Amino acid sequence: MAPSFPFQSWQANPLSDWSIPVEKSFVGIVGMGTVGAGVARLLLDHGDRTARHAGRTLWLQHVVVRDVHKKRDVDLPAGVLTDDLDRLLNDRQVSLVALLVGGIEPARTIAVKILESGKDLVTANKALLAEHGPELFDRARDLGRSIAFEAAVAGGIPIITNLAQCLNANKILSVSGILNGTTNYIVSRMDRGQGDFASSLVQAQRLGFAEADPTMDIDGSDAAQKLAILAHLAFGAQVHWADIPRRGIEQLQVDDFRYAQQLGYRIKLIALAELTRSGLQLSVSPMLVKLGTPLAEVQDNFNAIRVVGDAVGPVFFHGQGAGQMPTASAVVADMIDTAVGRTKITFQTLKLWSDTAPSIEIAYPGDARARYYYRLNITDQSNVLAPVSEIMGRYGISIASVFQHDDDRSDSNVVPLVIMTHETTEQNAAAAFREINQLDFVHPAAQRLKVLNSTGG
Ligand code: HSE
Repeated sequence: MAPSFPFQSWQANPLSDWSIPVEKSFVGIVGMGTVGAGVARLLLDHGDRTARHAGRTLWLQHVVVRDVHKKRDVDLPAGVLTDDLDRLLNDRQVSLVALLVGGIEPARTIAVKILESGKDLVTANKALLAEHGPELFDRARDLGRSIAFEAAVAGGIPIITNLAQCLNANKILSVSGILNGTTNYIVSRMDRGQGDFASSLVQAQRLGFAEADPTMDIDGSDAAQKLAILAHLAFGAQVHWADIPRRGIEQLQVDDFRYAQQLGYRIKLIALAELTRSGLQLSVSPMLVKLGTPLAEVQDNFNAIRVVGDAVGPVFFHGQGAGQMPTASAVVADMIDTAVGRTKITFQTLKLWSDTAPSIEIAYPGDARARYYYRLNITDQSNVLAPVSEIMGRYGISIASVFQHDDDRSDSNVVPLVIMTHETTEQNAAAAFREINQLDFVHPAAQRLKVLNSTGG
């Protein structure tokens, strides 16, 4: 028999409405890091709110942690904290568990145990779903359980529910997003001329946006993991995140932001899934985004997603993609939906990551069409443009504009030359760029960036 507590803290709140539900759903949490503490706080301090929305109290019965002696920034009712996972697993009253442990193991093993013990799972662990989603979803279906994961993509922005439910009268045409707050903070700062990549990364770490090891943020892997999940929901794409072509922001230079602005753009790390005639194009890369369009205006650590549906047209979501309370907001919403039974219905209907669900063709990345920005560092001498345009012409690339930035000439007479192209394929743009870089008057390190087209931005 699980212990019961005289009250959880919200019930001592004089503003709470005592007439609200007596029925309880007993819930557990595994992991009491930043997000776990936020979830506990919402359940304990604002349980009247969640009870009103769930039609029952979400009663926090067990919190499982590795070290019960560690200092935490939330007061848990006596008897709730334990380092014994089995206490939670064997408690038949508990019907759902929020798994708030990061990384792959032991999160994967614990997730399976939670499902096998007959409990529904709520998780914020994007890496776990990106690596083991198909296996976990199959297991949950076999066991008649559900998995909810709103917090795994874009933290507080309710994009999973919107794609999985609210927009499903549509054929989704594109999903373009800023899905990583760390990199958006860095590029926003570089765009404002406040620092280069290295100093902006240090500042992001100082402010607690970037991880101690920010590699997966910086190189686009984190955004690719999130895009793989969104692409599955929006298009049925069965793609492993590591197979999504991706490029990070570490090669960006402050000058590129300045030149992009002069051309009417901002540089953003964009995760893009776009339906084309040859299938679904997927990529994560820094792109030029037209100033004044919603994605270009997303600043600092914020995330945003633009979805275009054939019936609804463009829809835009903006908010905090990480952080304690935004992520906890999504986790608790999932806990409410699971307790009410909504998650199970959606989960069973959608057959997510099921082998039996139809899958969409993934397009060859080289076929993606866009305009391109080239920034070349050239020796300022005669007969430079002719060989460059000859190469571009050979690849069928039409030049839209050329601008030499004389103010940025180096002592050795090297000047930046910025070329904007008309629309071409990724394959041709890359091949021409490679050849241009072999010309003897072209110096390292040149830059090539894709332009997000107006339907994507
Ligand atoms: N590190 C991520 C970000 C949040 O900066 O957005 C977790 O995916």
